[in-house]
Amino acid sequence: MTETLAPDEAGIARAARLLAEGELVTFPTETVYGLGGDARSDRAVAGIYAAKGRPSFNPLIVHLPDLAAVDRYAEVGPKARALAQAFWPGPLTLVLPLRTDAGLSNLVTAGLPTVAIRVPAHPLAQRLLRAFGGPVAAPSANPSGRVSPTRADHVLDGLCGRIAAVLDGGPCAVGLESTIILADPEPMLLRPGGVPVEALEAALGQPLATGGDARKPTAPGQLASHYAPEAGVRLNATSAEPGEILVGFGPVRGALTLSEAGDLIEAAARLFDILRQADRLAGPGGRIAFAPIPETGLGLAINDRLRRAAAPR
Ligand code: TXA
Ligand code: MG
Repeated sequence: MTETLAPDEAGIARAARLLAEGELVTFPTETVYGLGGDARSDRAVAGIYAAKGRPSFNPLIVHLPDLAAVDRYAEVGPKARALAQAFWPGPLTLVLPLRTDAGLSNLVTAGLPTVAIRVPAHPLAQRLLRAFGGPVAAPSANPSGRVSPTRADHVLDGLCGRIAAVLDGGPCAVGLESTIILADPEPMLLRPGGVPVEALEAALGQPLATGGDARKPTAPGQLASHYAPEAGVRLNATSAEPGEILVGFGPVRGALTLSEAGDLIEAAARLFDILRQADRLAGPGGRIAFAPIPETGLGLAINDRLRRAAAPR
């Protein structure tokens, strides 16, 4: 049985108690819903991998309420600190050297000497992290390889019965996972996401190298066929071919649209819900075609997710 918890004092207290008991709780962040467990508990972290069906070599993001809490677990270098001060709380994840006395389950980092840390801005995530008082490991709350959840009912579609509870905070505002950066010594983009690359480069005062790719998956978001709907996906379409559901953007009109106004922020927030809707409309053996999305700002992360949704599997 999976409990649905209301976004109030009682719901947060129940969620924090379940986490303290080593149970799994999904909770909203401003990016996507997270599948949370106590990052110090091998049992809880093993439970996350099992619930997602995730290959155990893919490490998890640890969530904390503020930068002060991070120093207990990781070494925060100068560029990381500058980015943290500029973008936390928010949709940014920093990969940092793990402290030897961090006390995190080895399963969280999959044995790596680094740990990915995020300070989410969503008020419910903040309240839950403070009520729990410890590090929360949380990948996106979807079965491995499937579309990330941006609403509580998306979570239940994929994980009902496999988690203790979902804290229902309504739709996620950003809608795309966090941007993942390795900051020191040389800043490198590991996954485009909710903080645009242009904003990070402006804060750093230097360009970001682009890191791993699908052939060297240091981050599972980098596996080629991540974010896959059931239907086949075609990109850069300006009209529907027979049997296709066209998803529009701006002037390209379709059965559905990411943003009629051509607004990338709106498109990001709607992307994963639209992927699910289009998948249902396309039906078995159907296909989805996406209008072109500009490769600037959040468009970089949107196109990254769409290319993975379209990748052969
Ligand atoms: O917005 C988000 O980041 C969401 C919410 C729930 O916070 N979480 C999320 O987690 O997207 P997940 O597990 O789906 O993606 C975590 C990414 C993976 O691609 C993983 O490989 C990468 O973070 N990662 C974790 N630890 C890492 C490390 N030490 N070095 C490099 N990449 C790491
Ligand atoms: Mg994910």
